[in-house]
Amino acid sequence: MRNVIILGSQWGDEGKGKVVDLFSENFDIVARYQGGNNAGHTVFTGGQKFVLKLIPSGILRPGKKAVIGNGMVLDPVALMAEIDALESAGVEVRGSLSISNRAHVLFPAHRMLERLSEGRAGKLSIGTTSRGIGPCYEDKIGRRGMRIADLLDSELFRQQYESAMEEKITLAKAFGIYEELDWHGIRDQYLAVAERIRPMVCDTAMFLNQAIGEGRTVLFEGAQGTMLDVDHGTYPFVTSSSASAGGACTGTGVSPTRIQGVIGVSKAYITRVGSGPFPTEALDGAGEQIRRRGNEFGAVTGRPRRCGWFDAPLLRYTAAINGFDSLVVTKLDVLDEFDNIPVCVGYRRGTEEVAEMPPTARQLEQIEPVYQCAPGWHTSTFGVSSYDELPARAKDYLAFLESWTGVEVGCISTGPERHQTIVRPGSRFARLVCG
Ligand code: GDP
Ligand code: IMO
Ligand code: MG
Repeated sequence: MRNVIILGSQWGDEGKGKVVDLFSENFDIVARYQGGNNAGHTVFTGGQKFVLKLIPSGILRPGKKAVIGNGMVLDPVALMAEIDALESAGVEVRGSLSISNRAHVLFPAHRMLERLSEGRAGKLSIGTTSRGIGPCYEDKIGRRGMRIADLLDSELFRQQYESAMEEKITLAKAFGIYEELDWHGIRDQYLAVAERIRPMVCDTAMFLNQAIGEGRTVLFEGAQGTMLDVDHGTYPFVTSSSASAGGACTGTGVSPTRIQGVIGVSKAYITRVGSGPFPTEALDGAGEQIRRRGNEFGAVTGRPRRCGWFDAPLLRYTAAINGFDSLVVTKLDVLDEFDNIPVCVGYRRGTEEVAEMPPTARQLEQIEPVYQCAPGWHTSTFGVSSYDELPARAKDYLAFLESWTGVEVGCISTGPERHQTIVRPGSRFARLVCG
């Protein structure tokens, strides 16, 4: 058995799409376990750029199976648009993709209700992707959600839809955020899409467990990142799902006893989109330089990403939550031109050292990062594919990250393309992911 989770160790956009696409070659199945089309996973291959939102990044590898797990929230119209776009680019989707009958259905009403918090004066704005993700998960946890299996039962769906939408319309009107929508048109559109996705829908937990039982291997693809996890992230500035390793089990129905490894993906620095505390944010020219060199603009919303320095205490925290076996450090090339590269090695409040990740956003805003500077290497690492060819100072930087995080750096990404990647021979990463 060699089933491995690959997930974000920061606030998302770490380069998971590139990493999962590349290494899905070594697995039979790639399964997404949480989130929805708030995710934007960018993959470059054969001169083409793909941004995957709902479909696992492994879909680009012919012959591999892709799974949309029960932990996801699914806008069927967005899913169909993604399938159509991929198929018109020559990617075979319909024969490769399985969709969980237990994934939750996301409606336009969820996007409307997101304005209850995001769009109203005096309310705490999270700076969401406006895809309706939070309200859809609220319905799931509130036990009033509709699942793909309900959507496929057209008679039942019609009844459930009427009463669910009535509730939402009442709520939206009461809070003054009501927007006229073609409710019946939406219902019919969803029912039409249901027929298109029906052949792909199954009990994916059974599919995965049977495949594992037969000796096939699964790569679990996380969306967002651990600091956006609803339990372990910078609450309330988080997403509404379990992005960390535990989510892979609940979000697919595969037991932890059947998973052999967890890999964290981290940028060589750090970014965040949306609001919330960010201790190492670089608000000076350096932040702008990272944004420009790293092209740090959201893959879903196009918003500029907030940029800052590598935060080792944050990584130690996410390594503990997930039990990382190894790290993939991406976008090393983005740091090529810096004279000095600050790395946060600890947190302080006044004169007091802060040993644990503060649980509240307010406490996190009060801490000060303690930096140590690593010397820059002033040499291009773009596209380097062998560890030995990295400049000595870039190797020192990676060793510095390893020593402060306590996790091996088993893989390094030096550009967006597949071949712009280094796997360190003899690493745990090589054993788990390439073995
Ligand atoms: P994800 O959400 O974690 O899959 O990450 P995104 O796709 O949202 O953002 C990562 C961006 O960085 C994408 O545009 C990738 O093409 C790009 N990228 C990934 N790895 C590297 C790298 O090593 N160097 C550079 N320069 N770009 C990279
Ligand atoms: P990938 O998978 C980065 C952020 C939003 C917002 C917060 C809540 O591409 O790494 P939501 O719409 O989920 O309710 O927004 O989470 N966010 C992400 N940030 N990468 C993502 O996905 C994100 N998905 C959500 O910006 O701060
Ligand atoms: Mg992204």
